Amino acid sequence: MILRNFGRTTYRTHPLCMGGAALGDMPETFAYSVPAEDAHATVRALFDSEINFLDTANIYGDGESERRIGHVIRERGGLPDGFVLATKADRARETGRFDGDRAHRSIAESQKRLGLTHLQIVYLHDFEYCDQEQILGCGGALDVLVRYREQGIIGALGLAAGPIPEMIAYLDRADFDCVISHNRYTLLDRTAEPLIAECHRRAIAFVNAAPYGSGMLAKGPSAYPRYMYREASDALVARARACEAVCQRHGVPLPAAALQFSLRDPRVTATIVGMTRPERIAQTLALAATPLPEEIWGELVDSTASG
Ligand SMILES: NC(=O)c1ccc[n+]([C@@H]2O[C@H](COP(=O)([O-])OP(=O)(O)OC[C@H]3O[C@@H](n4cnc5c(N)ncnc54)[C@H](OP(=O)(O)O)[C@@H]3O)[C@@H](O)[C@H]2O)c1
Repeated sequence: MILRNFGRTTYRTHPLCMGGAALGDMPETFAYSVPAEDAHATVRALFDSEINFLDTANIYGDGESERRIGHVIRERGGLPDGFVLATKADRARETGRFDGDRAHRSIAESQKRLGLTHLQIVYLHDFEYCDQEQILGCGGALDVLVRYREQGIIGALGLAAGPIPEMIAYLDRADFDCVISHNRYTLLDRTAEPLIAECHRRAIAFVNAAPYGSGMLAKGPSAYPRYMYREASDALVARARACEAVCQRHGVPLPAAALQFSLRDPRVTATIVGMTRPERIAQTLALAATPLPEEIWGELVDSTASG
């Protein structure tokens, strides 16, 4: 796959990005644990692959995702040439506070754990759980992050969150370089569509996270009936089974359709796939390259139309 311009920034990124949430061992979110050695091996395999893009956050596993990634960066003596690492500035885990002071601390923690003074991409993360005045007020978290970008301590500033109308409104609050939406542009949920259109209009890189809805569309609705980090409703499981049946009729894997649904949209700059085993990288590249018949897309829409 060919590297793409990352919006208006100077970065060139692979259409696939590895997601680092589960790498930080978050059993309450993913319903399974990930030992440090598996995480290290997965990051090593990534650094040896054609994928040059990794996404993490200050808060994942209470810092454990950044610590594990930092371990491999140190082992390699720095990031591989041409590699792009994104992290996210987060609220304080215990108090939920996300003011200017907290933004300073979040950046300092990320620098220390990753062993990097320059952070290439930093997203303002999950504003929906926070007091908006703390983030948007004068000297608040957003002002602090904008200043870090002006000073060159961070290379690009992004917005990463959930609720779509609120994210669109946030785009007027700063000159963001990139946006992450998650679980809302998949075979089962297309509510991110207006945000994608708005990012495209503004020439902001749009990054689509969780194309498998946090796992159900990769492992299958019987093996892993969870969507967006919680048990999926019966109706959602039924829609996933309908997608699975369409794929079976065409003899193709469900995760190939789930992944390519995102990859084939030219407005999506990169698609973030969560992986916690080294073999996932080759599997993901193979799923991305699996030939799918054109008519499958219409059938997949029809199969989930009731939801
Ligand atoms: N607010 C935000 O900014 C935000 C929110 C959500 C996500 N994100 C980012 O997006 C990333 C991706 O989201 P996600 O991890 O939640 O969901 P996801 O990418 O939809 O799904 C990840 C799940 O799919 C499984 N999987 C991946 N490839 C597979 C394969 N070939 N075969 C079987 N299972 C496979 C993984 O299993 P294994 O663990 O077994 O590999 C993991 O359980 C996150 O890690 C994070 O970096 C950002």
